[in-house]
Amino acid sequence: MTTPESKWIKVAAVSEVPVGEAKAVRLEAGRSIALFNVDGKIYATDNQCPHMGYPLTRGVVRHGILTCDWHERSFDLEGGGCFNVECDDLQTFPAETRNGEIWVEIGDFAYKRKDEHLRLLWEGLLSADRWTMSKAIALLLKGGVPEAEVVELILRHIGRHIASSHGSEGGHDVARLINGLKVGRRYKDADRLIAITTAACSAAGGAAERLEVVPLPHPVSWENIERWVRMFSHDAHAERIERCLFTARQMGEADKILPLLFECTAEPHFLGFADNLISLGYLSETVDEFGWEKASELVFNLGAKLVGRGRGEPERFRRDAVRIMRSMQPAIDDAISNASTREVTDYDEDAFVNALTSVDIQRAFDAVRNVLETGVKIERLITTLVLLAADRMARTPVNVDAGWPCLTMELHLAASLRTAQRIGGDKVAAKGIFHAAWLLFADRWLNIPSRPLTEPLSETELDIPDEDAGVRLIINSIETLKVQEIGGQVLAYLNAGYSGQRLLEEMGRAILWNDTGSQILPTLRTVFEEWENCAEHPAHYQLLVCLARYATDIRTNKDSQSATTTAMRFAEGKTTVEVFED
Ligand code: FES
Repeated sequence: MTTPESKWIKVAAVSEVPVGEAKAVRLEAGRSIALFNVDGKIYATDNQCPHMGYPLTRGVVRHGILTCDWHERSFDLEGGGCFNVECDDLQTFPAETRNGEIWVEIGDFAYKRKDEHLRLLWEGLLSADRWTMSKAIALLLKGGVPEAEVVELILRHIGRHIASSHGSEGGHDVARLINGLKVGRRYKDADRLIAITTAACSAAGGAAERLEVVPLPHPVSWENIERWVRMFSHDAHAERIERCLFTARQMGEADKILPLLFECTAEPHFLGFADNLISLGYLSETVDEFGWEKASELVFNLGAKLVGRGRGEPERFRRDAVRIMRSMQPAIDDAISNASTREVTDYDEDAFVNALTSVDIQRAFDAVRNVLETGVKIERLITTLVLLAADRMARTPVNVDAGWPCLTMELHLAASLRTAQRIGGDKVAAKGIFHAAWLLFADRWLNIPSRPLTEPLSETELDIPDEDAGVRLIINSIETLKVQEIGGQVLAYLNAGYSGQRLLEEMGRAILWNDTGSQILPTLRTVFEEWENCAEHPAHYQLLVCLARYATDIRTNKDSQSATTTAMRFAEGKTTVEVFED
């Protein structure tokens, strides 16, 4: 029956499709349909195999079943139903012959398969299959499904995945997911798709059913919840914390949950567990973006695992550090309480950096206490820590082991203190600075010489005709792994007065298209934001230098490009052959 949205069109002469043959016909919309002549009767289907897009005109028809020639998915030629459970159904069209011509009733091609593709994405997440995820996300976005809806499904999956399959290390998956989404928003089209797909891959994996966590029976007061969470955190009872957090939300105390978790994790006994503060920051952003309703399983489960994690017996240096920081707690609390009366905006930053990198934890902690008592703004101290980490990444030797996991942890921890301050307040952020100081001490094996952060950097300028040439040179150096040269080139490009923002965007694009491991996403996002936050500081060029060096040194080319490009073309309705022809 003809509907208002559909129309019969003449697509070929019957003589062009002999019995037993097939023919592809390209339509205006960019899609192609396949015509089959089976014993004189004409059938019409979408020519794009729903599995991976192979042209179905190259398939085989037997007993009314069309089998694709690539991976042998088979379909009912008339109704399009797929006999393989893990594949979509095929779109078919009514066809008839009139006076030696083939006429086909073309639908409106409007997108009507949202539920199918959401299910496909869910399957891809469970099986951690990058192609399935890429295809589903590309189809959903191309079909006009809002990105937020796609991301919410990924979020629901990661909550269950981490709750059933991960300990506190699940924070790394959340980091890649949240940072991938944040980075993706800075790009469009294929660049955005690859960022979202890479983020989704971080969330992929098994997600078993688990018993629902139910709140504690009433009456329970917030005062008790707070007391118990602190105690369970100290005693490493994660599962007890999770139930307390569910209870707090049900009591209407959701706003107090994240500040409490931040307070727990800033405690001295968590020195050496910097990923706690970082991961709590990302969990806070998840709540900001999606609200408690959608984020609660993830936040309560992972949050409890983070602040309730076992810490083992501390080795000598860490034991000393915990003791020193604990002894300074009353002074820190006082300093923060009185800060508003004597806030200063600038200070001897080089002396502070010198103390932090002195490999003397007493001296480093004394320096932190001193700047806090002097009234230096927390935001200013965070900027110092961010740029100190970037500067170290910009100068670490790359010929043996550059120490990227440690150095990126320094950078992410420093930047995460901005969220810790926003959610947990100045006292939490101040304690976080001690954690950052400890991390620098713990990374002493890196042996990166100390350098005054305010000292001018090299002023050499890049000898190239213009900005375009500079960007090309640097991207080429990243792609061809010129790790010894890339840092100097980035600095010389910036010294020449060319746009750092543009270079950052181009470097980000190069990173997105080549980093299926996705480990660089948190650093990329951090540099994007800190480039804006630290714009006035003489060392801020080191943010781009450090990113370029890191991206070049860890670069691995794993062909993520082809999965995403093919998925984009697939969503446009092109067969794999047309994709290759393009
Ligand atoms: S079965 Fe057709 S593309 Fe895989």
